[in-house]
Amino acid sequence: MYKVLKELKVELGERSYPIVIGQGLLGTYDLTPWVAGNQVMIVTNDTVGPLYLEQAVACFRGKQVDVVTLPDGEKYKDWQTLNLIFDGLLEQRHSRKTTLAALGGGVIGDMAGFAAACYQRGVPFIQIPTTLLSQVDSSVGGKTGVNHPLGKNMVGAFHQPNMVLIDTDSLSTLPAREVSAGLAEVIKYGLIRDESFLIWLENNIDALMNAEPEALAEAIFRSCQCKAEVVAVDEREGGLRAILNLGHTFGHAIETYAGYGNWLHGEAVGTGMLMASDLSLREGMISQADHERATSLIRRAGLPVYAPEGMSPEDFMSRMAVDKKNIDGTLRLVLMRALGDAFVTGDASEQNLRNTLLEFTR
Ligand code: NAD
Ligand code: GLY
Repeated sequence: MYKVLKELKVELGERSYPIVIGQGLLGTYDLTPWVAGNQVMIVTNDTVGPLYLEQAVACFRGKQVDVVTLPDGEKYKDWQTLNLIFDGLLEQRHSRKTTLAALGGGVIGDMAGFAAACYQRGVPFIQIPTTLLSQVDSSVGGKTGVNHPLGKNMVGAFHQPNMVLIDTDSLSTLPAREVSAGLAEVIKYGLIRDESFLIWLENNIDALMNAEPEALAEAIFRSCQCKAEVVAVDEREGGLRAILNLGHTFGHAIETYAGYGNWLHGEAVGTGMLMASDLSLREGMISQADHERATSLIRRAGLPVYAPEGMSPEDFMSRMAVDKKNIDGTLRLVLMRALGDAFVTGDASEQNLRNTLLEFTR
């Protein structure tokens, strides 16, 4: 039988939804109350399917459950692969009363969510995230989409899930490199909004790296809590929500430079957050000691602390010019006034930015 460890709600009026965090949920938790019609389409990939599909199907007992299995990888987060979901839905005659369920990491969650936003002009969907990164970040908040060769996540829609089911047991099969990538987004919450969580992370990072279940459950809960609060205030990123992108402007540039999938999203965000920290230091906002704390935590999480070999400041600048936060050609970045207090600015000095780029490139 399953054990629910924590539950919380993303408060969005009539589109509010629960996040259920627990153990043994896959295979036993009844998801049918979140399925309005009789049809469910599970979207997964060829790595996660063999591990968890059978258990996911069991959560929808009594429904017509069909499956689309996509190739695994960030490089398949594109239009062409997205279309396979529509092929499956139409071939199996799914109506506008169907429910999509994303079983996998952030790539599957973003693509299944985008398909749900578009299919017959919008159908409900359920997130069943199976990576640490997707459990602490991408399954919550309704950002969905695919990559374009010229920019990460450049084509997409806001479409909130109906429920998020997080089974921490699924992390037992996750490779260590993916745990580190997820920890980057966990550390992000401490850096942007919650210094007490940052201190908790400093004390528990080794337990998290050893994938200790209690530590992981607490980190997932506190991360989801932080994200749910921010999304409830600013669902469509008119303001506050942009702080969730700490390190992402630099990170997305790294991901597109390296080729999608060569640097993991979390790895690029980890280095990107240090670049934002370095720039915050140069702008006189945080101290050298603060920057060293951030650097030490990122290192202890097993994340890279320099940009990819050969990437130049110009490589960053050309890619950062297409960031979604930019307005009228002005580059906008998330910086920190203090650890645990991030904000968005278009005012960072060009010279300081240049020095940060020089510091992190080789
Ligand atoms: P991912 O989806 O590529 O998953 C990482 C790898 O782990 C894949 O090979 C996957 O098949 C495998 N995997 C998944 N679950 C597993 C398990 N339980 N056991 C073993 N292997 C497993 O990567 P990710 O880090 O989960 O997500 C990254 C994506 O999320 C990026 O595309 C990023 O843009 C997106 N993202 C979106 C948001 C959002 O708000 N929508 C936020 C952050 C990141
Ligand atoms: N990961 C950034 C956001 O959800 O807004």
